[in-house]
Amino acid sequence: MAKSSQKEWLIAPGPASREFAINLAKSIGADILDIDSKLFPDGESYFRIKSNVMNKRVAIVQSTYPPVDKHILQLLFLAHKLSEDGAEVHAIIPYLAYARQHRAFLQGEVVSLGVFSHLLRSVGVKRLVTVDIHNVEGLGLFSIPAYSVSAIPLIAEYFSRNYNLSEAIVASPDFGGSIRVEAFAKILKINYIVLNKSRNKITGEVLFKDMTERVQNKDVILVDDIISSGKTIELATMKLKESGAKRVFATCVHPLLVENALDRIKKAGVEEVIGTNTIPSPISKIDITPILISYLSTL
Ligand code: R5P
Repeated sequence: MAKSSQKEWLIAPGPASREFAINLAKSIGADILDIDSKLFPDGESYFRIKSNVMNKRVAIVQSTYPPVDKHILQLLFLAHKLSEDGAEVHAIIPYLAYARQHRAFLQGEVVSLGVFSHLLRSVGVKRLVTVDIHNVEGLGLFSIPAYSVSAIPLIAEYFSRNYNLSEAIVASPDFGGSIRVEAFAKILKINYIVLNKSRNKITGEVLFKDMTERVQNKDVILVDDIISSGKTIELATMKLKESGAKRVFATCVHPLLVENALDRIKKAGVEEVIGTNTIPSPISKIDITPILISYLSTL
């Protein structure tokens, strides 16, 4: 890969994304910072940065999957020390937590993503990149340059390479995912539909209404940004099957997979569930390093 014109990158691997960060560093020929880290028995995190970072450009790589708040705090600790030591600090956050709370949906709610953005700036982060932020409106909460790159082309290409789909159609569980499925369908040169999902803002209960008949005898690829509890995919699959879908595949960018999400999805009759490695998981089959390499090469 052609290296950026100005400074070389140094990579600071956060504990949540160590393996991912090391692979990224190898791919761009960047050095990895020498960092001692440990967890105390009470759960507190400790870091000591042993490399000299004065006037260096450092990318911290730390995904903020569960335990979310611990991973965020570790990112803040690293960023604070690196900027204190004179580095230009960039944050690569493959999965950006709290992005689903980019506004107050009910009166009195904390806009958690806004608080997270203030914290990143306060510890000296100069620029941030994430992958498929839940809603691009969330980027507006950042007062530092903040970007979201998309893994959708990589996922679509994975499906095109690995599955022999017949009469396939792409489906988003909800309106919020329309742009994602449109892009996905365009790459596979097939049609897409947007299902009518609603979620009770108090109980979190998911409902699907007005299921379409356009899925009859088709292979349906359900595409979502996040699979968390798996309820969205479970219920969508059940409804799609009731409506005559032949096979249902499910894919997401961020496989949070909390509790028994995978079992729940498999029991609903999904053929295969595929995610990316923004979060390590048993289904993280698609490597998103190439899109981060492209992003870094533009800086
Ligand atoms: C919501 O708008 C997101 O795009 C996902 O559909 C949601 O986070 C999935 O959550 P779960 O797997 O818990 O249904």
